[in-house]
Amino acid sequence: MTDPNDLAAFLDLGWQRLTRGVADRRTAARHPVFATVSPDGAPEARTVVLRGASRSAGTVEVHTDGGSAKVRSLRANPQAQLMIWDEKAKLQIRLSTQVTILQGAEVADRWQSVPEGSRIAYGASPTPGTPILEAHAYTKLSSGDWFTVLICRIESIELMQLVEPHRRAVFQADSAWQGAWCVP
Ligand SMILES: Cc1cc2nc3c(=O)[nH]c(=O)nc-3n(C[C@H](O)[C@H](O)[C@H](O)COP(=O)(O)O)c2cc1C
Repeated sequence: MTDPNDLAAFLDLGWQRLTRGVADRRTAARHPVFATVSPDGAPEARTVVLRGASRSAGTVEVHTDGGSAKVRSLRANPQAQLMIWDEKAKLQIRLSTQVTILQGAEVADRWQSVPEGSRIAYGASPTPGTPILEAHAYTKLSSGDWFTVLICRIESIELMQLVEPHRRAVFQADSAWQGAWCVP
């Protein structure tokens, strides 16, 4: 029987589920909800693919189209939250992050390893979100010029586990991820 008060083991579980999401498309952490704040202060949430998770660096990575609304929002306000509900582990993972936007020469190496079939996600004419008169009145550019990498530096990780009795803890980068329990 594992100790329910073991904060370090709880954090290990969170990272295990996160890193698995990068490698295994069938796990929940593969598709986090990525929430930003629009330039006029409104919340914006959307599904993304988790492309990287590094416990040692304290970062997760998301790839996107440089013309998308989220990039505009992140330029105005670099805060983003990623949220995962991992049904298998009965675990909600909430990451509060500060995002660095990488483009062009900084991501040229990564662009080379984006499979041909996945490049369609980067670049569109007109830009994503533009109103159009017909459903298919757009062209996909599949262009490295629009390939954008979002490096999300994690400031805090909140874990909430719905195993009876429920557990919830917050781990912060600036307290060396030591963690503290709170009421679920
Ligand atoms: C399963 C799934 C995975 C997605 N993965 C990504 C992704 O990795 N990056 C991305 O920018 N958009 C992804 N999208 C599309 C976004 O949810 C969103 O529609 C798009 O990025 C435009 O968002 P924005 O206008 O708020 O920037 C995905 C959507 C789904 C349903």
